[in-house]
Amino acid sequence: MEDSRNNRRRRFLAVVTSVFGLVGVGTLAASFVASMRPSARARAAGAPVEVDIGDLREGQMMVVEWRGKPVWIIRRSREMLSGLGTLRSKLADPDSQVEQQPVYAQNETRSIYPEILIVLGVCTHLGCAPTKNFERGISSGLSEEWLGGFFCPCHGSTFDLAGRVYKNVPAPTNLEVPPHTFLSENRIVVGVDSGRAA
Ligand code: FES
Repeated sequence: MEDSRNNRRRRFLAVVTSVFGLVGVGTLAASFVASMRPSARARAAGAPVEVDIGDLREGQMMVVEWRGKPVWIIRRSREMLSGLGTLRSKLADPDSQVEQQPVYAQNETRSIYPEILIVLGVCTHLGCAPTKNFERGISSGLSEEWLGGFFCPCHGSTFDLAGRVYKNVPAPTNLEVPPHTFLSENRIVVGVDSGRAA
């Protein structure tokens, strides 16, 4: 009688131990999987952000967040690109010589592929958020000569469609081009500084 009670107790303890063991393994596995995803804190600290631009149409802009800042991605049309070469004399840094710009932004379009512009949507004067103004001419509300670009409502800085700052405005430098890499024609990683992929 005593033996059978002891056997039952041993079996019960064995079951309880294995159940707790499985729960422990499951919890560890779940924490490991969770640790592989970038946490919100890691993203804010600068983890790279992968973006699919397959649905971005000509003339459109999308916004993603990287390091807590807005990153603008614009698919420029042929017409939008056509004005860039005509503005040199009106721009403060047409060749993007100021330091904050990666090598692949030091060209007229400030981009790896001419049609895709990637810049931080943060005014280089005091950090306001400029607005896009892609209209040309008087319908832009700016001037007859305006060829499209960005306007900062805080103190009136203007930038062209490559994010290059105009002369005689408060912003001292072009909009910043963040480090980025193309994984393919329509997939970009913002925050990885290797420029063009294959
Ligand atoms: S913050 Fe943009 S012009 Fe001053």
